[in-house]
Amino acid sequence: VDALVKVVAVDGPAGSGKSTVARRVAKALGWRFVDTGATYRAITLAVLRSGADLRDPDAVVAAAQAARVGVSTDPEDLSVLLGDEDVAQEIRGEEVTGRVSSVSALPEVRLLLRDLQRRAMGVDGAVVEGRDIATVVAPRAAVKVYLDADPAVRAERRGAQVAGGTHQTRGAEGQSLRTVTQDLQRRDAQDSQTTALVASDGAVHIDTTSMTLDDVVATIIDMVRASGLYP
Ligand code: DC
Repeated sequence: VDALVKVVAVDGPAGSGKSTVARRVAKALGWRFVDTGATYRAITLAVLRSGADLRDPDAVVAAAQAARVGVSTDPEDLSVLLGDEDVAQEIRGEEVTGRVSSVSALPEVRLLLRDLQRRAMGVDGAVVEGRDIATVVAPRAAVKVYLDADPAVRAERRGAQVAGGTHQTRGAEGQSLRTVTQDLQRRDAQDSQTTALVASDGAVHIDTTSMTLDDVVATIIDMVRASGLYP
């Protein structure tokens, strides 16, 4: 067991259901929950607010280093802090969503956030969701899953998320399903270039297209039990 740590790595593209699933698994296990996407979004907001020129990597890295990002590790607490301010809502907006891929492409930013993410994980058990958890952030995780779903289903879920959790195709910001689909495709392409969104060798691939949320959660909890790191 020496080589394994009490971590469930949940990787996958936007709209694969990662956030909801990871949060539910963390709650069921009584483990911490770490949303690494939120750390990239918060740092992006800090960079935007600093007025740094996004085409100038040095300026972006300097703004990122100056930012004080704090994430809750309680699966029931959705807050994301920038300094003392809760920016959980703002980081889901269009401005941050449109810029987060380019900020997260910078290696210095990734290194900075990797350390923050590892501190947030702790050592007593954490469910960590993102793109590079099994490959980079927690390569010794006891359980590694890669969640995926058909692009159309992912766009539909993301659209419902934008609308505030209700299942409809028009977002709160007036985004049509087509806009959400286009944004998702653009981000998939950018993320796969810059953040090595690839399933790690040891990850179990779960296609959630026609699975219920409960099924996905139960599947992962079974894997955690089988790992021997949970009673
Ligand atoms: O999961 P999300 O949509 O909140 O992630 C926002 C962005 O952050 C995503 O487009 C890519 C980036 N990201 C990353 O580069 N590495 C991670 N581990 C998580 C997210």
